[in-house]
Amino acid sequence: MAKAPSLTCTACGAAHTKWSGRCDACGAWNTIVEEKPLVAGPASKSLGAARGAAVALSTLSASEPAPPRVASRMDEFDRVLGGGLVPSSAILVGGDPGIGKSTLLLQAAASFALAGLKVVYVTGEEASAQVRMRAARLGLSEAPVLLAAETNLRDILTTLETEKPDLAVIDSIQTMWADNVESAPGSVAQVRAAAHELTTFAKRRGMSVVLVGHVTKEGQIAGPRVVEHMVDTVLYFEGERGHQFRILRSVKNRFGPADEIGVFEMTGAGLAEVANPSALFLSERETPSPGSVVFAGIEGTRPVLCEIQALVAPAPAGQARRSVVGWDGGRLNMILAVLEARCGIPFAGLDVYLNVAGGLRISEPAADLAVAAALLSAREDSPLPTDTVVFGEISLSGAVRPVGQTEQRLKEARKLGFAGAIMPQDKKATPEAGLTVQRIPDLTALVGDIFGAG
Ligand code: TYD
Ligand code: MG
Repeated sequence: MAKAPSLTCTACGAAHTKWSGRCDACGAWNTIVEEKPLVAGPASKSLGAARGAAVALSTLSASEPAPPRVASRMDEFDRVLGGGLVPSSAILVGGDPGIGKSTLLLQAAASFALAGLKVVYVTGEEASAQVRMRAARLGLSEAPVLLAAETNLRDILTTLETEKPDLAVIDSIQTMWADNVESAPGSVAQVRAAAHELTTFAKRRGMSVVLVGHVTKEGQIAGPRVVEHMVDTVLYFEGERGHQFRILRSVKNRFGPADEIGVFEMTGAGLAEVANPSALFLSERETPSPGSVVFAGIEGTRPVLCEIQALVAPAPAGQARRSVVGWDGGRLNMILAVLEARCGIPFAGLDVYLNVAGGLRISEPAADLAVAAALLSAREDSPLPTDTVVFGEISLSGAVRPVGQTEQRLKEARKLGFAGAIMPQDKKATPEAGLTVQRIPDLTALVGDIFGAG
């Protein structure tokens, strides 16, 4: 029987029967490669009912104590984990190459070691000397972390078996090599096999494991999405090149809230925690300028104020540009369409640039009103007062809808010295004392009352 070629998407791990430029499972381009099948040898017959051992079944009512957690004392890291490290948990930390994953995890490993855990740090990317040099630069040479430079998974598992650490950091999963799988390190089959071995080992031995995964745009290396479903917690480390801010974001967490963020600043001596991100994201703000609006957002469980900047300029002949950094491009087009259809403010023939300052990426619909205000402010060349925050969701009808956690947003604004807020009409919310609140029913009111246009 002729075997069909085994084609796999390196971004999401989906199997395909024929090659195409785009993976229809995850939408990534140029990520489908041919790979050896995961299981070698003849396919076994179906598993008969008589072959396995009986598994003990239990009821749902058995009381399970809340998992004890170990805090690293790196508060931003602990927060993203949901309040510290859960024993026997598997964590994936993904991010672009060079963003600072190894730095973050060396610091976290040292913190956990100093907090009393036995920590093994396995590097498959660098030589031990390089890691020691980084530790020296970070001032962590004295931390009791056990270091190994190794890529052979069998040897690593044997070492972990004898050493019995509480936590193992694997940097990175793409460099690990399982000798029972016939494909190159970094391939989907290898990454899957290595992640599976390490996570099952961790569960069985009561060890926590952190897997580092490089995000790859395209090419021959499997991305971290291939292992997302195998781990308890998925964290992404993000940041803009050329910016010192780094955001650790939880996108999946079996033991805590997803969408929580930890904020760090990359300095000459490693990552420094940023306890008050609002102050940091606003510190770049200059004098009042058209197109600049402060959005009172919520990231995870924390209010975060940040600046949204818009620039609207006449487009040279041809298609007008729409360019977005830190927000969703589709959502920008929607706001532009609503402004045009409901308020009669056209953006045709105008280039529109939108930027969330400080390298933050916002996904909350509550930012709609702040974006609309920034666009209007830029288009009308009319700055908003610098001491005003804006938030609210916009519907296709042009109505401004209330959003959650209004009190928290207003409280944060007050705390940071803001005097006013432009927000939805919300019956529940009582304004924070000392804040002048303007409640906007729809976009027409924003256009007319605030900008005097329309
Ligand atoms: P690294 O942790 O090696 O990134 P990753 O593991 O995600 O590939 O960090 C790489 C960058 O961080 C590198 O460009 C240098 C910078 N860096 C600092 O700015 N300060 C520091 O103290 C350290 C250790 C690194
Ligand atoms: Mg690294």
